[in-house]
Amino acid sequence: MAIERTFSMIKPDATARNLTGAITKMFEDAGLRVVASKRVWMSRRQAEGFYAVHKERPFFDELCEFMSSGPTVVQVLEGENAIAKNREIMGATNPADAAEGTIRKLYANSIGENSVHGSDAPETAAEEIRYWFSDVELVG
Ligand code: CMP
Repeated sequence: MAIERTFSMIKPDATARNLTGAITKMFEDAGLRVVASKRVWMSRRQAEGFYAVHKERPFFDELCEFMSSGPTVVQVLEGENAIAKNREIMGATNPADAAEGTIRKLYANSIGENSVHGSDAPETAAEEIRYWFSDVELVG
């Protein structure tokens, strides 16, 4: 299995409840390494740019409002099969559908305030990493 990198966000509902450490530990315990990390309070414009793929969706405004409502921790996770592994640890987008023991089952408030985001494919991982990090910030 190839070593991959994926992009992850710990969203404002989770940083507000001081869950950055607990969530990061779940990634690390599963064998993923945090090779870049920073806490940002994204602007509305940054949220709209990041989630541009969803701009026609009915929840787009609500999503961008929420994502710019408080601090987010943006991270790059590295490891074997990192993209799929990260998605497994997160659980389903809607916490009502998330498996026991996943981050969203444990911590998400709702489908909108769902505590974490993770890239869904190698192309989006590369794009999302580039959106938030420069090469010199990926430190291994
Ligand atoms: P995320 O993995 O960050 O990708 C897009 C986000 O849109 C998703 O997690 C949810 O938080 C949000 N989202 C998806 N569907 C809905 C919905 N029906 N209502 C509100 N937010 C949603």
